Amino acid sequence: MKIFTTKKALTEHLEKLRGEGYTIGFVPTMGALHQGHLSLLASAQRQSDVTVCSIFVNPTQFNDPKDLEKYPRPIESDIAKLEQAGCDILFNPGVDEMYAPDEQWHLDLGELETLLEGKFRPGHYQGVTQVVYKLFDIVKPDLAFFGQKDYQQFLIIHRMIDLLKLQVKLVMCPILREPDGLAMSSRNIHLSAEDRQHAIVLSKTLNWLNENFDPNKIDLLQKECFGRINLEPSVKAEYFEIADGGNLHPAQPSTRNVVALVAAKVGNTRLIDNMILSS
Ligand code: PAJ
Repeated sequence: MKIFTTKKALTEHLEKLRGEGYTIGFVPTMGALHQGHLSLLASAQRQSDVTVCSIFVNPTQFNDPKDLEKYPRPIESDIAKLEQAGCDILFNPGVDEMYAPDEQWHLDLGELETLLEGKFRPGHYQGVTQVVYKLFDIVKPDLAFFGQKDYQQFLIIHRMIDLLKLQVKLVMCPILREPDGLAMSSRNIHLSAEDRQHAIVLSKTLNWLNENFDPNKIDLLQKECFGRINLEPSVKAEYFEIADGGNLHPAQPSTRNVVALVAAKVGNTRLIDNMILSS
């Protein structure tokens, strides 16, 4: 695997490959890689000639400085995982390579930015679009792979692509889970052994909802799920929403594409999960 830390060197290398007719598949990450990230890479490998993965813990998308500080950065083991998985190129820039001091960015993301994650993490999606735009501009991928795990992030990036008329095509990849159902996440390592057990309530509740979903009882089911999560010791739900998967408005009985999305604090760790109920 070739490792690049500067935009210039990566751009030159990719230009050469593009000139030779190779298609480029891109997997942006913040590192602390797990099987979920690697499944995105596997999809990229199946669908493109050359795979580029980026590892960059993007400061502008963290609204809590403590969260940024304690974000795991196991770069050596990440490199080993990518080598082992057969990734072609890693882009691992420093903050100064990506940002000029006092850089400004604002994109009108509309309502999507005020709902769910947007509401609980103000400014988060401005930071996400800011960095993903930069990364797309450097890598110029044909295809970019994102996880359903961050469902709203996928919609937001889709909106950015529409707004800015970017050429890249997005691919949504399914959520990878631990054997007991917990959605894989770089943040799971912060969970104590006890909280790790309590965290299962998120996927359990989503599964329960999936089995008991009735489009005529959306409000009732939503309240029931919120309550179930809060019954679990040391777990506090921020939201549990049964939504239209296209725009994240509350789902109606007639909504075709229904997604349930949840965010909760488990101990001090904030986790998110979701499940597509019908599409
Ligand atoms: P990060 O949290 O590292 O996630 C990188 C990609 O991996 C995202 O597309 C995310 O949805 C996907 N992913 C995470 N957990 C997953 C799981 N259990 N199964 C499948 N895919 C999973 O998302 C970000 O980084 C950042 O916001 C980024 C887009 C890189 C911009 O900084």
